[in-house]
Amino acid sequence: MSRVRQRSMVVRQTIRSSFFLAFILLQQGPDQVESQKLGGFVQTNGTRFIVNGDVVYFSGFNAYWMMLESSFPSERGKVSTTLEQASSYGLTLARAWAFSDGGQWPLQSSPGSYNENMFKALDFVISEARRNGIYLILSLVNNFDGFGGRKQYVQWARERGQDVSSDDAFYTNDVIKGYYKNHVKTVLTRINTVTSIAYKDDPTIFAWELINEPSCKSDLSGSTLQAWIQEMAAYVKSIDNAHLLEVGMQGFYGASMQGRRQFNPNGYVEGSDFISHNQVPGIDFTTIHGYPDTWLANWTSEEQLRFLQNWTQIHVSDSSAILKKPLLFTEFGKSLEPRGSTADQRDAFYGQVYESAFASARDEGPLGGGLFWQLLAQGMDGLRDGYEIVLTQHRSTASIISQISRRVSELNRSRRHG
Ligand SMILES: *[C@@H]1O[C@H](CO)[C@@H](O)[C@H](O)[C@H]1NC(C)=O
Ligand SMILES: *[C@@H]1O[C@H](CO)[C@@H](O)[C@H](O)[C@H]1NC(C)=O
Ligand SMILES: *[C@@H]1O[C@H](CO)[C@@H](O)[C@H](O)[C@H]1NC(C)=O
Ligand SMILES: *[C@@H]1O[C@H](CO)[C@@H](O)[C@H](O)[C@H]1NC(C)=O
Repeated sequence: MSRVRQRSMVVRQTIRSSFFLAFILLQQGPDQVESQKLGGFVQTNGTRFIVNGDVVYFSGFNAYWMMLESSFPSERGKVSTTLEQASSYGLTLARAWAFSDGGQWPLQSSPGSYNENMFKALDFVISEARRNGIYLILSLVNNFDGFGGRKQYVQWARERGQDVSSDDAFYTNDVIKGYYKNHVKTVLTRINTVTSIAYKDDPTIFAWELINEPSCKSDLSGSTLQAWIQEMAAYVKSIDNAHLLEVGMQGFYGASMQGRRQFNPNGYVEGSDFISHNQVPGIDFTTIHGYPDTWLANWTSEEQLRFLQNWTQIHVSDSSAILKKPLLFTEFGKSLEPRGSTADQRDAFYGQVYESAFASARDEGPLGGGLFWQLLAQGMDGLRDGYEIVLTQHRSTASIISQISRRVSELNRSRRHG
């Protein structure tokens, strides 16, 4: 999720006690029916994701807010409700933040200092995901200012006497790289207080993500980010070799491959490079995001769809032919906020992403699934951003989601050995 939308999230987050929530909590007995079971660790084989030796596909969603929401006793039930509803719609993969740096509700309040209450909230998210048969992609830092991010790390270093001017020092300053590595180590070696399983040993975690939507405007060549990814991928793997790892990219092309930059929307050059970053040893799969409604705001909805098709196709083809790794569509969405955008247009958009994913899977291609931005439960109006899906409210989209989840699960079964 990109800058503007994310920045206001924490600000808009208010603690609301709600009678409705209390009602939901009362409805949940301790012996809730267990839904789909989680398989083992997700791994890759060539351009496919596998679990216990079987090729698998995923239908997923983003819910960046789960740790924060779990940290408020009155809101915690919304995380359970969200994961239960998601599971009942056949969704099997969620992506969320495993960071909150500084600010009012920190996980890491200052370099190396952790807020145990917030960590317990993350423990709860992981255990609830497991209970509902949902895998988790956990992101370790934000490129943007929401929940601290690169800016907070740079600020911490400055307060401790480092001579750092731009937020891009995040990628190069040794003290800051040390802070980040310490965060990685602290999260990966955390022992979950609910399940007693170390995060690094928990198959509920699908993958770690180095950084949400990295960019480096001071070095558009991509080499600064490339060096950081090489160092950090090796560091993550030195602690945890069991889980998959991905960068967190939106998919923008850089200079490493002739002719690819023309595929970027609107001439975007972000200092990132889809090809070279995903070639780094330790990066197990590639990712793309898709927000043509903000990237190409003055294009028509039909033109945006054509862009998206092109965008998906070129990344499918590069992941397969050049990178030889699986691809996940880790964020896609369409806002209903701009004047004139309709639920039908959003449904067409979702339909197209799912058709691309399904076509790739059918043809044994690398696209392993899509995660829409973003899922909310009822009664979370403070987190609405125009992109949200409330399964019990956005019925037409919810029905598309449940159809694709059913098709994905049939595909899963058909690819199973024996
Ligand atoms: C990986 O895929 C190849 C080719 O499809 C297959 O022969 C092999 O058994 C697979 N390995 C695993 C571990 O699933
Ligand atoms: C796909 O993108 C390429 C590069 O920008 C462009 O040449 C081509 O016309 C696009 N195709 C479609 C169908 O938009
Ligand atoms: C979109 O708007 C920008 C300026 O706001 C303009 O330069 C560009 O030509 C427009 N593109 C289209 C396709 O209308
Ligand atoms: C696909 O298979 C994996 C592994 O068995 C499972 O965890 C996942 O829930 C399945 N996905 C769907 C949509 O059924």
